[in-house]
Amino acid sequence: MSQSHAQAYFGRRYTLSASHRLHTETLTAAQNRAAYGKCNNPYGHGHNYVVEILVGGRVNPETGMVVDLAGLDALVGAQILARFDRTNLNADPAFVERVPTTENLCCTIFALLKDGLPAGKLESVRIEETENNSFECCGVPWSRPAPENHREDK
Ligand code: NI
Repeated sequence: MSQSHAQAYFGRRYTLSASHRLHTETLTAAQNRAAYGKCNNPYGHGHNYVVEILVGGRVNPETGMVVDLAGLDALVGAQILARFDRTNLNADPAFVERVPTTENLCCTIFALLKDGLPAGKLESVRIEETENNSFECCGVPWSRPAPENHREDK
């Protein structure tokens, strides 16, 4: 990339409320309880996730921006918020075969956004799940759509 233009990062936060249950059929009931603790509760529970999208790239000399804010909002609204906000994550196709941990939610969001940005490069998707827990994905080996192409061993 040309160094004749300034490089910068732009971060934007979105909020997303969803429920999930951490459980995998590959473990026994006891192993699920041991692995996930109260998050394995059969009735599930919810989070108000704070999703931070970090985009890096060249500062457009004309607009002074790394990425068009309205374009990014439209992409996140259509691909992420419309799909996941106020839903049960376990019911989404992305989480049929993958446990809806926040690690996996981060990586799914990364996959859904990475090829659609109006400009710049998706650097990371960071999610604050609670005031104590945060997760960050900086790359995934699969392309969108995430649900169908997520297996690395094929
Ligand atoms: Ni949880």
